[in-house]
Amino acid sequence: MEYIVVKGGTKLYGEVNTSGAKNAALPILFAALLAEGEHHFHNVPLLRDITSTERLLHHLNCQTTREGTNLCIRTSPPKDYTAPYELVSQMRASILCLGPLLAKYGEARVSLPGGCAIGSRPINLHIEPLKLMGAEIAIEKGYVIAHLPAKRLSGAHILFENTTVGGTENIMMAASLAEGTTVLENAAREPEIVDLAAYLKKMGAHIEGEGSNVITIEGVESLKPAEHTIVPDRIEAGTLLIAGAITGGQVRVENCVPADIQALIDKLQESGFTITSGENWVEIAAGSAGHGVDIHTIPHPGFPTDLQAQFMALMTQCEGASVITESIFENRFMHVQELMRLGADISLNARVAVVRGHPGKLEGAEVMATDLRASASLVLAGLVANGDTKINRVYHLDRGYEKLEEKLAGLGAIIERRK
Ligand code: EPU
Repeated sequence: MEYIVVKGGTKLYGEVNTSGAKNAALPILFAALLAEGEHHFHNVPLLRDITSTERLLHHLNCQTTREGTNLCIRTSPPKDYTAPYELVSQMRASILCLGPLLAKYGEARVSLPGGCAIGSRPINLHIEPLKLMGAEIAIEKGYVIAHLPAKRLSGAHILFENTTVGGTENIMMAASLAEGTTVLENAAREPEIVDLAAYLKKMGAHIEGEGSNVITIEGVESLKPAEHTIVPDRIEAGTLLIAGAITGGQVRVENCVPADIQALIDKLQESGFTITSGENWVEIAAGSAGHGVDIHTIPHPGFPTDLQAQFMALMTQCEGASVITESIFENRFMHVQELMRLGADISLNARVAVVRGHPGKLEGAEVMATDLRASASLVLAGLVANGDTKINRVYHLDRGYEKLEEKLAGLGAIIERRK
């Protein structure tokens, strides 16, 4: 099995590019199911969740062709409307084919994604709104079996009891082909929602309010394929910025949207780091250092749960204490035990971790990646630990980071992948 070895102690310097956003690309690729024909996408990152999506699309009778970061999807009516267990179990976001299949073909059979390392992750907020829109949905033998008795879904007023990114995306896609108007209240406001809305609009959808917590979708009878460039990955940009911060180097992250990581920039500045930014870049100044600050993960525009693990790695290197509260997922602290294997001083109580920072005090060791962002936090810790850190199970990292080792090595990190 592949693993990564990082030799700590090198300050990172230079410029690094951000790739396209995984979490924007996934729903947008599934949106292709809403219109038959050729969809053209650019800036699609090369990573495992994208190839898993392509595999599911192939199963649903689509063809895909990739050249670099350009991806063309040719959709035709599926022969069977099933997202099978063996594909869904590879990637939970496969549930995003439910709304498009149901809206376009009136049928969908999607394996239940189940829980994952970071929490139980139910899908009730995907299913209940579709029922309100006229779908009949049952859970049978581990599958969501959805059927539409009418010709089209009907628009509905939906109030999400919890803010859900995937739920908002699934219903926004389904509502685009529904009859009448759908209003989503307490909708997610993430930049990935805005990017999905941008693609749906190019396909001919009528959507207003994306980026706010009320989204209105006026359904249309049909949509057409279009062309789209995926937004930059804010979580990757944030991870690279933290890599600069944790090593005390000077890193300029290019081709990103600084406004999308404002919550991180604010916290880095509150901590004492010097950050400058322009329209599409953000830079951490050489030799700046921080002290412990508290973070509380909440939906966008708050501090993102997807940067919590990486920020925790940084806090182990900042003088003073930091209280980190995870309010999105109930079990997203699996990296704590692994950071402690490197010597981090962290105490954990349910959803709250207290980190006491001791700059320069981590010692390289063998650790295990438990999920995507946890893997990134271990790589970041490895950059400053004394000696070698060996990170096992890096397949988690490959789900969501494009060439992270290459990008870090380009900034001067001593890092390599071995078998
Ligand atoms: N929730 C429910 N019922 C539902 C759906 C969600 O109770 O039907 C709960 C979840 O259990 C969680 C909260 O609502 O406690 C938020 O979950 P959300 O639906 O927003 O998460 P998601 O759509 O499954 C996406 C990202 C995650 C990211 C979260 C939160 C994608 C493909 N995934 O997941 O990204 O952490 O939003 O921002 O967009 C990652 O990239 O590492 C990752 C996990």
